Amino acid sequence: MAAFVPPNERNAQSPHLPFGDYREAPLYGKDIISVSQFSREDLDYIFGVAKEMRAMVERIGTFDLLKGKILANLFYEPSTRTSSSFFSAMERLGGSVIPINEVTYSSVAKGESLPDTIRTLECYADVIVLRHPEVGSAALAAEYARKPIINGGDGIGEHPTQALLDLFTIKEELGRVDGLTVTMLGDLKYGRTVHSLARLLSLFAVQLNYISPDILRMPADLVKKLEAKGVSQKEYSTLETVLAETDVLYVTRVQKERFENLEEYEKVKGAYVITPETLKPCKDEMIVMHPLPRVGEISLEIDTDPRAAYFRQMEYGLYVRMALLAMVLGKA
Ligand code: NCD
Repeated sequence: MAAFVPPNERNAQSPHLPFGDYREAPLYGKDIISVSQFSREDLDYIFGVAKEMRAMVERIGTFDLLKGKILANLFYEPSTRTSSSFFSAMERLGGSVIPINEVTYSSVAKGESLPDTIRTLECYADVIVLRHPEVGSAALAAEYARKPIINGGDGIGEHPTQALLDLFTIKEELGRVDGLTVTMLGDLKYGRTVHSLARLLSLFAVQLNYISPDILRMPADLVKKLEAKGVSQKEYSTLETVLAETDVLYVTRVQKERFENLEEYEKVKGAYVITPETLKPCKDEMIVMHPLPRVGEISLEIDTDPRAAYFRQMEYGLYVRMALLAMVLGKA
C-alpha cells in the first residue's frame, strides 16, 4: 500500500506553475539569502529588469504584473527603507502586502518560533521578505518554507537586496564596476550592508579600502575569503590617504544596537564625519553612498553636492526590488 502523502506535500512534489514559461529565468521560485548565490550574468539580468521597471514606473507608475500576488513583509527589526520599498514595489506591480512590523502585535510576541510563523504566512502569501536579528535566520526560514524567502537583513550577517541596489547604483551612476576603487567607511564589523556589498564586488576587478575604528574592522574571516578570491583589499584607520583615488565612498553608521557595551559605542560613535572639507581632495566624478539611516556621519551640507548619491540610491532600490519580486514570482 502506498504511504499516505499529505496534500501539501503532493503539491510540493509536483508544483503548480501558474505563469507559463518563465522557469528558465534565474530567480524563479528561488530564495534570496546571500549575495554569494549570484553570478555576473544573474546581475546583468536583474539590472536589465530593474531598468525596465524604472521605465514603466516613469511612464505609468503602477501596472498589473503581479496582480493577485501577495507579499508578507515580516520585520523583527526596525526598518524604513527596506520595508517600505518592498511594500511600494509590490503595490506598483499591482500586488498586495501583509505588513508585520516589529512583531509586537503578532503571535511572535506570544513566543511563536520563526519556522511556525513562516509556515503560517506562506499559507497566505506568495513570497516573504524577512528581517531578523539573528545571523542565518533567513536560511533557516528558507529550509521550512515552500514559498520564496527574501533576506531583508539577518543580524550582522547579510543584506543581499541592499547590496544589489548598491551595485545597481554604482553601475548607473559611474557606468562601470571593473577598475573602480570602493572605500568603505564606518562600522565594518556590524554593518551587514558592507558585508554583502564586499562579497558582491568580489565578482569584479575592484580595489576595496576599509576604514574603521580598530574595534569595528571588517571581520577577518570575510577578508580572508575575499583574499582567496583574489580581491585587492587594504585597511586604513584614516580617510585622507585614499580620498583622491576613491570612486565610491560608502559610508555607514555605527550600529549602536549591536554593541554589548554602550561605553564602547560612545567611544567610536563620532569617529568619522564627512563634511564639504573632507570631499575637497576627491574627484569630480565619484559618488558618496550610504545605506541610511545616517546619524551624523555625513553632514547635511553634502546633500546638495552632485556627488551625494544616497537619496538616488534609495530610488534605485525600488526598481531593483520590483525586479526581484517579479523574478522570484516568475513574471520577468
Ligand atoms: C541598513 C540595515 O538595516 O542594515 N539599512 C537599510 O536597510 N537601508 C543600514 C543600517 O541600519 O545602518
